[in-house]
Amino acid sequence: MVSARLSALLLGAGALVAAAPAPAPTAAPKLEDRSTKTSSGSCTFTDASAASKSKTSCSTIVLSDIAVPSGTTLDMTKLNDGTTVIFEGTTSFGYKEWEGPLISVSGTKITVQGADGHVIDGNGAKWWDGKGSNGGTTKPKFFYAHSLKQSSITGLNVKNTPVQGFSINSATDLVLDSITIDNSDGDGDDGGHNTDAFDVGSSSGITISNANIKNQDDCLAINSGTNIHFTGGTCSGGHGLSIGSVGGRSNNDVDGVVIENSSISDSQNGVRIKTVYDATGTVNNVTYKDITLSGITKYGIVIEQDYENGSPTGDPTTGVPITGLTIDGVKGTVESDGTNIYILCGDGACSDWDWSASVSGGESSSDCSNVPTGASC
Ligand SMILES: *[C@@H]1O[C@H](CO)[C@@H](O)[C@H](O)[C@H]1NC(C)=O
Ligand SMILES: *[C@@H]1O[C@H](CO)[C@@H](O)[C@H](O)[C@H]1NC(C)=O
Repeated sequence: MVSARLSALLLGAGALVAAAPAPAPTAAPKLEDRSTKTSSGSCTFTDASAASKSKTSCSTIVLSDIAVPSGTTLDMTKLNDGTTVIFEGTTSFGYKEWEGPLISVSGTKITVQGADGHVIDGNGAKWWDGKGSNGGTTKPKFFYAHSLKQSSITGLNVKNTPVQGFSINSATDLVLDSITIDNSDGDGDDGGHNTDAFDVGSSSGITISNANIKNQDDCLAINSGTNIHFTGGTCSGGHGLSIGSVGGRSNNDVDGVVIENSSISDSQNGVRIKTVYDATGTVNNVTYKDITLSGITKYGIVIEQDYENGSPTGDPTTGVPITGLTIDGVKGTVESDGTNIYILCGDGACSDWDWSASVSGGESSSDCSNVPTGASC
């Protein structure tokens, strides 16, 4: 094994030297150059596997009208530093029951963009059965933005994800700006379900700005991470702007979140924080500021520490305290059979809250518990 690897290494080094132009007297090639090879200009691909194979040979990768074969990932992982990826025309995906993801991008200083008029069509209707990730057909996740560092994803136009949209994990200093996801074809019976737009975990320095989302689950769900900013979002049809559920994963700490200047319409919930029953973790320093609600069917603001297997138990526990919460200018309306505000905290597990909310139209809850000083139900 060892000698085979060694000779492969030497061969690689030899190939590099052989391929290099006549060396300038002062610039002897360094061995490290093999892994930080700066690449040549722009390459346009119309075939997913060709794009994946050549992804480290081009500084700009244009993905033009790509039909991704069923059961495969459009693999843009481990790109060279500084690579630009541009989606052009229509990107589509073949049908297969599998976990996905349909697209995966990783690297440092990566720029992902959409060309004018492009669409990334997740072709969700082929999978939709109203069951999301809770059963029925196995549906591929849409886009892994995992291990992206100092990078940006801008202006993507997405339609009809089969299930969850952007999974942001182990990312640092990542901006997602002006992303549109229109899953409204999946509204109605046996349609899209669990079509979260942005799921954030184990990441820091994340900014999601000017998103325009129509879906059937969370517009944003933060399970863990630090220094996360969501601003200028327009969310419709889903479950609102959520933290959680927090607890029961490998990382259970949420610290330093600002969610602001956003609107949530025709959705189950507006502002939501949920933590897991009997789990441990923290939710600290979270601000919701200038959030406008309309047509909310379930809860305008809901904060509860009682989730188990994805459902509320009605029995809050104290292992994931919610501290340093600011609700500043959350305003708007709930449908008449919805509830304006619901707060269900364990004894002493919610503290240091600032609260300024004006939510009306729905019922007032009589089931709130351990509401901290300053807040009201
Ligand atoms: C608020 O968000 C909207 C987009 O919904 C944007 O046009 C506007 O510039 C934002 N305002 C501020 C103060 O950031
Ligand atoms: C709270 O979080 C915000 C946003 O990440 C950050 O700017 C601020 O410094 C944090 N405050 C404290 C006291 O850590």
